[in-house]
Amino acid sequence: MKASYIEKNGGPEVLKYGDVPDPVAGPGEVVVDIHAASVNGADWKVRAGSYAPLESFPYILGRDFSGVVSAIGEGVTDLKVGDAVFGVCDVGQEGAYAEKIAVKASIVARKPDSLSHQAAAALALTGLTALVSIEDTLELKPGETILIQGGAGGVASFAIQAAKHIGAHVISTASAGNIDYVKGLGADEVIDYNAQDFTKVVSNCDAVFDTVGGDVAMRSFAVLEPGGRAAFIGSGGQAPESPRSDVRSLRPKVGRDREHLERIVELFQAGAIRVPEIRTYSLEEAAEAHKVSEGRHFRGKLVFAVR
Ligand SMILES: NC(=O)c1ccc[n+]([C@@H]2O[C@H](COP(=O)([O-])OP(=O)(O)OC[C@H]3O[C@@H](n4cnc5c(N)ncnc54)[C@H](OP(=O)(O)O)[C@@H]3O)[C@@H](O)[C@H]2O)c1
Repeated sequence: MKASYIEKNGGPEVLKYGDVPDPVAGPGEVVVDIHAASVNGADWKVRAGSYAPLESFPYILGRDFSGVVSAIGEGVTDLKVGDAVFGVCDVGQEGAYAEKIAVKASIVARKPDSLSHQAAAALALTGLTALVSIEDTLELKPGETILIQGGAGGVASFAIQAAKHIGAHVISTASAGNIDYVKGLGADEVIDYNAQDFTKVVSNCDAVFDTVGGDVAMRSFAVLEPGGRAAFIGSGGQAPESPRSDVRSLRPKVGRDREHLERIVELFQAGAIRVPEIRTYSLEEAAEAHKVSEGRHFRGKLVFAVR
């Protein structure tokens, strides 16, 4: 497998293209030949050093992927070579911007033929995060009203559809050029956040799901009715402290398991979730894809077509 050019952090050492050993399936693992991997907000934050310092290089980014099982580790009985699967790397593991990856078999799921590899990679981490946020953390119920901030983004676009499937009334925010796109995802009301202050036009929400962070996150508390709950994924590892004592501020605990991936498939097959708008890149174009992601004003998902 070819490793990308990388300059060692703070040192003169420069590693050029070279051979990196192919991953091996350890006990309980499978090796997946990656067909597609997606870009997530975390990727450029890791690259920029916003998370824990990286200690070993070359460091391969990337958290979700779709591909075909090419090797099976000891003890894996529920998958076989040739199975099409998709998944999200274990917490603390990355490396999906690659041709192959070894991952725990228990955290990948079978990919149906009706979902392309690019679509599955696009839906994996965003779908997992949206489901943990909307279904498990906020426990959104039919008839409730939710404000979903950043409707055109990957996680929010899945969350809007999941919330509509539950039977909630969904209000979202987007810039003018994305309003029709977000309405097309099923949002009942979409606010152009550059033209209107959402705190002036939204109130009495049962729930808020914020994917934007910063000032948007903090101002979101204002739209909740007493007893309301808010979930935040764009404000780091902790939920922001609530300025109100009568509402709850929650940080979804996004773990890894096969069940949530199967739920993504179930919702897709039921017609409740559609594939987001996808812009494809080759792995060699990763820097370009990161610039777009870091700009935070694209819509849908950026996906690497690896094979
Ligand atoms: N496991 C986890 O906890 C987890 C997983 C995935 C993502 N995340 C985090 O969740 C956040 C969202 O990630 P993402 O990949 O879904 O989206 P993203 O790529 O970070 O967000 C892009 C979208 O944000 C919208 N946006 C930007 N500023 C906005 C504002 N002020 N108000 C409303 N919308 C705004 C943009 O739409 P416009 O162009 O219309 O402005 C754009 O479509 C990131 O911080 C990411 O790190 C966490």
